[in-house]
Amino acid sequence: PRPGRTAASDADFVVVANRLPLHLDTTDLDAPRWRRSPGGLVSALEPILRTRRGAWAGWAGTVTGGAHPALPDQDTRMHPVPLTEDEYRDYYEGFSNATLWPLFHDAVVPPDFDQSWWHSYLGVNQRFAQHAAALAGPGATVWVQDYQLMLVPAMLRALRPDVRIGFFLHIPFPPPELFLQLPWRSQIVDGLLGADLIGFQLPGGAENFLQLVRRLRRGEDVSRAPHASVLGRVLLRDREVRVGAFPISVDAAGLEDLARSEPVRERTRQIRRQLGERRRIMLGVDRLDYTKGIDQRLRAFEGLLAAGRATAQDTVLVQIATPSRERIGHYRRQRARIEARVGQINGAFGQVGQVPVHYLHTTVDRSELAALYGAADVMLVTPLRDGMNLVAKEFVAARPDLGGSLVLSEFAGAAQELTRALLVNPHHPVEFQDVMAAALGQDETEGRRRMRDLRHHVRERDVHHWAHSFLAVLHGGSGSVPSGPGA
Ligand code: ADP
Ligand code: G6P
Repeated sequence: PRPGRTAASDADFVVVANRLPLHLDTTDLDAPRWRRSPGGLVSALEPILRTRRGAWAGWAGTVTGGAHPALPDQDTRMHPVPLTEDEYRDYYEGFSNATLWPLFHDAVVPPDFDQSWWHSYLGVNQRFAQHAAALAGPGATVWVQDYQLMLVPAMLRALRPDVRIGFFLHIPFPPPELFLQLPWRSQIVDGLLGADLIGFQLPGGAENFLQLVRRLRRGEDVSRAPHASVLGRVLLRDREVRVGAFPISVDAAGLEDLARSEPVRERTRQIRRQLGERRRIMLGVDRLDYTKGIDQRLRAFEGLLAAGRATAQDTVLVQIATPSRERIGHYRRQRARIEARVGQINGAFGQVGQVPVHYLHTTVDRSELAALYGAADVMLVTPLRDGMNLVAKEFVAARPDLGGSLVLSEFAGAAQELTRALLVNPHHPVEFQDVMAAALGQDETEGRRRMRDLRHHVRERDVHHWAHSFLAVLHGGSGSVPSGPGA
C-alpha cells in the first residue's frame, strides 16, 4: 500500500535518509517541539534541499506513534516515515548502530550480530523504499543516504525501474576482511548495487567496495576506470553501476556570514571574557560517540596538565557533546568514562572559580556554535575513525579572521584534504600531547598562513560542490549498457 501522506506527491528530486532534518523532541510530552536533528548528514543535506525543489523522506525521531504536530512553516517537502518501538530498538539501535556503525568504524568496539535485528532492517528498508517510490514523479532522481538504508536502492529499483537512483555513504567503507564478517554481506552488496551511482567519502572506501564486489560476485565484470570522481564500474547483466569518491563538505559561505555577523562576534567576545581573557581556549564539538576519541583527547590534556605544560590559569578546554544513541551500552559506558575523566581532571587541576575543563552535554544552536568556533585558539577534532568530520570544515569556514589552529586526526576523512592542519594520531598518547602543545604555542604568522590555505580549500570545495559533482555524475550518461561483455 502506498503510504497515505505521500501518495499525492510527484517530486522530481527525492532525498531518502533515516533522519529528517527536524526531529520531534518529546522531552515535554505535553508540548512536543520540532528541533534540528543531530549529525553531519543533516548539516550537509539541509542546505542542498533548500536550494532545490524536492522532497525528503525520513524518520522524525520519535516512536510515540499517532499524529505528528504540524511541521514548521507547513513544510510539505518533509515526509515522516514512522518507526515502531520495536523497530527503533532492532533496526535503529540494533542493526544500524550496534552492528553496522561499529563494524564500519574499524570495529572500534565489537559489532553485535543478531538475526532479529536483520529482519527489522529488511522491513524498515522496504518501508523507506515504498515511501520513496510513492514520492518520486516519473523519471525522478532519488538520492538514498547512508548505512541505515543500504537495501533501499535495490528495493526501490524493483518498485520503480524508471527512477534514477544515487546512493551516498557518509561513514567509512571498511576493508573487505572486516566487511566479510557480516553474516548478511551479500544481501547488503546486492542492495547497494541497485543504485546507478554509489558514492563514498574517500577513494579508499570506493576501492574497498570494488574489491569486495570482485570477491562476492565473481560473475560480474568489475573494472577500475579512474576518471575524475568515478573510480570504477560494475557491469551487471542489464546495466552499469558506477562507483566513486565524493568528499562531503559544509555550507562555507553560510557559516562565514554567520561568523561575521555582529551578534555572533559579540557572543565570541563574551565567551572569551567569561573563560578568562588571558587563557588559551581549546574546543571540542562532537556527538557523544566512542568513535570521536573524546576520552583520548581528555587524557592528552590531562597529560599536559600533569607535566606542567599547561595549567588551569593559562588554558581551558571546552568540550560540547551532543547526546546521541543514549540507550546503547557502548554509548552509555563511553559517556560514563568521559564524565568521570572530566571530574578527575577538574578535581586534580582546578581551583575555586577556575576549572580546566568545561563540559556541556547538550546541543547548541548554529549561532552559539559559530561563536564558540570564533573563540577557540585550538580546535580539537580527533576521532579514532570518521567518514569525513564536518566539524573540522565548519571551524575553518567560521574563521575569516584567520585565527585559531586546527588539530586533526589522521583517521578523519577530512585529513586527506585538510593537510595543512596539525595532524595527529590520537592513539599515540605522547604524540597527542606534543601536537596539542605545538598548537597552543603556534606562531601567529604560521597559524594564519595555514588557516588561509585551509580556508581556500573549504571555500572551493563546499557542500554545493559536493552535491553538484555527485548529481552530475549520476546524470551523466544513461547508466545502462544495452550490450557488452557482461550481457
Ligand atoms: P557526525 O556526523 O558523526 O556527528 P560530523 O562532524 O560530520 O560528525 O557532523 C557533526 C555535525 O553536528 C556538525 O554539523 C556539527 O556542527 C554538529 N554538532 C556536533 N555537536 C554539536 C553540538 N553539541 N551542538 C550542535 N551541533 C553539533
Ligand atoms: C552520522 C551518520 C548519520 C546520522 C548522524 C547522527 O552523521 O552518518 O547518518 O544521522 O550521525 O546520528 P543519529 O543516529 O542521531 O541519526
